[in-house]
Amino acid sequence: MTDTTQFAGKTVIVTGAAGGLGRAFAEGFAARGANIVVADMNEAGAQETVALVEKTGAKAIAVTTNVTEKASTDALMDAALAAFGSIDVVINNAALYATINRAPFYELDPDEWDRVMAVNVKGAWLVAASAFPKMTQATGRIINIASATVFSGSPLWMHYVASKGAMIGMTRVMAREVGKTGVTVNAIAPGFTLTEASMSVMDDAETYGVSSRAIPRASQPGDMVGTALFLASEDASYITGQTIVVDGGKQFI
Ligand SMILES: NC(=O)c1ccc[n+]([C@@H]2O[C@H](COP(=O)([O-])OP(=O)(O)OC[C@H]3O[C@@H](n4cnc5c(N)ncnc54)[C@H](O)[C@@H]3O)[C@@H](O)[C@H]2O)c1
Repeated sequence: MTDTTQFAGKTVIVTGAAGGLGRAFAEGFAARGANIVVADMNEAGAQETVALVEKTGAKAIAVTTNVTEKASTDALMDAALAAFGSIDVVINNAALYATINRAPFYELDPDEWDRVMAVNVKGAWLVAASAFPKMTQATGRIINIASATVFSGSPLWMHYVASKGAMIGMTRVMAREVGKTGVTVNAIAPGFTLTEASMSVMDDAETYGVSSRAIPRASQPGDMVGTALFLASEDASYITGQTIVVDGGKQFI
């Protein structure tokens, strides 16, 4: 049964929460009583997420954020503190994904490489860098959304795969650097999951990869939420620097 007070009084910032996985994280924490900060460049989508969160009875604000700019990620933290008084959990979920140009590595456009790295790698770093000094030190949580594709290596996506591999390395460094404070830093590596974004890149999205999973069904955004709730909980206070693959048992690492 859902404990609707588990995260009462805690503030959860979810970047890239205008839809997809980010919205599922926002709704999952809201259902357990957290205050939600929806950070995205997509203002309309962010407001829709706020409305969905408010339906659960939780509080939420949308903060228009460009994760590639430090001034913007700093302003995000200030807005969260002004609205709710603490920063307890940060979910680094914003990324360029479905809209990236794909090509073999020997034909990838260097500008496209830089564009992906700016959001997926630099953006995740800036959000964590802006958050850490202001977050609740003894129990704070940073959760980075990587991808299981790091362990399989999807052809034509090398810039995206590299960006998600970087996130796993960054998770380990951040975990070591802040471990003494009590803040933990972990990553979730989702397998292919049905979101508006992912469905736009696959014609066979509903069945893609399903037969190679130990649990042979399509992955829904809600399938990622339980791992984030656990990593954010007191029960996970001794787990840090880890990457948990959530893909129905396709990759075993
Ligand atoms: N859906 C999948 O199959 C899948 C699998 C593995 C990992 N992931 C990861 O999960 C996360 C969410 O994926 P999704 O499928 O929900 O995709 P999505 O495109 O719906 O979510 C990404 C969000 O990031 C936002 N964003 C992009 N650039 C931004 C910027 N500069 N500043 C702020 N926000 C920005 C977008 O507006 C969007 O709302 C991503 O990190 C993605 O790489 C997804």
